[in-house]
Amino acid sequence: MEKNIVHIVPQVEVKVIECGPLRIGGHVRIYLPNGTVIVKRRAFMCRCGRTHTPPFCDGTHLE
Ligand code: FES
Repeated sequence: MEKNIVHIVPQVEVKVIECGPLRIGGHVRIYLPNGTVIVKRRAFMCRCGRTHTPPFCDGTHLE
């Protein structure tokens, strides 16, 4: 086994979907600007800015 390598198990995974949202896998707490706190096990966060349900992806990027 190699020295100086820290083996950790990621708690959250973020996948960048090409021309789409960020897929966040793992338990996350999302703080919205209006003070609402949402807890999700998986979230798709809009990157295109065209969603009707910000900050979440609603598939509008596909249109
Ligand atoms: S990334 Fe899907 S609506 Fe913006």
